Amino acid sequence: MEVIVRDSCEEAVSLTAAIVARAIRAKPNIVLGLATGRTMEKVYRLLVEMYQDDGLDFSLARTFNLDEYVGLPPEDPASYRYYMNKHLLHQVNIDLRNTHLPDGMAEDLDAECAAYERAIKECNGIDLQLLGIGRTGHIGFNEPLSAMRSHTRVKALAPETIEQNASLVGGDKPFPRRAITMGVGTILDCRRCVMLVTGEAKAEVLAKAVEGPVTSMISALSLIHISEPTRPY
Ligand code: F6R
Repeated sequence: MEVIVRDSCEEAVSLTAAIVARAIRAKPNIVLGLATGRTMEKVYRLLVEMYQDDGLDFSLARTFNLDEYVGLPPEDPASYRYYMNKHLLHQVNIDLRNTHLPDGMAEDLDAECAAYERAIKECNGIDLQLLGIGRTGHIGFNEPLSAMRSHTRVKALAPETIEQNASLVGGDKPFPRRAITMGVGTILDCRRCVMLVTGEAKAEVLAKAVEGPVTSMISALSLIHISEPTRPY
C-alpha cells in the first residue's frame, strides 16, 4: 500500500486517470474494476477526454462494477448502470457486452451474486480496481462490520449512505435500501487497487482508514492494511 498525497483534487483526479490510462495501454484487454459516485465522475471525464483527444483505446477492455442497487432497472437514472453508461461507457469505444454490473433486478439475488463472482473469475480476475470511500468508511457497499473475506452479496445500506447517495439523484421516489456489492474479499483479490479520496468531508474517515487500528467497522482499512505494497505508479 502506498499513500500518495496531492495538493489539489484536480491533481489527485488526474493522477488516478493517468494510472488507469497507463494500465489500459500496457494491457489493452485489461479487466477493470469500476466504481461510481461523485469522486469518480471527474476521473471518467478525463478518461473520455483521453479517448477523444489521444485515442485511448477501450475496445478490448472488460469492466466489472463494484455494486448496483437492488430493485433499480438499468434505465433508472439512479441506477449504477445508468451512471456508468452516461459518464463513461457510452462515451468511449468499449464493447458494452464486455461491461458488467450486478443485476439488481434479478429474481434470485443470491444466484446473481454467485454468477457475478464466477464471471470475474472467468476473466481471470480484476487487474485494476478503482475505489472511492464512503462517509461510513465503506468501499463498494461494504458497510461497517463487513467480513474481510466476504464476496459478492446483498448488503443493507447504512442510513448515512442512503442520505449521501439519495442527494445525488434527487426526486421523491423511495431510495433503495439494499445493494449487491462485491465483498471486501473480492476487492482484496484484485491484482491492484487505486482508491481516490478527495475533499474535507472525507478527511476524518480517511485518517481512520490509514492510521486507525484494524477493525471491520471501516472496510477500507482492510484494503489499506492487508494489501501488498503496490508497484510504482
Ligand atoms: C460506489 C462505490 C462507493 C463510493 C463511495 C464514495 O460504486 O463504490 O463506495 O465510491 O460511496 O462516493 P462519492 O464519491 O460520491 O463520495
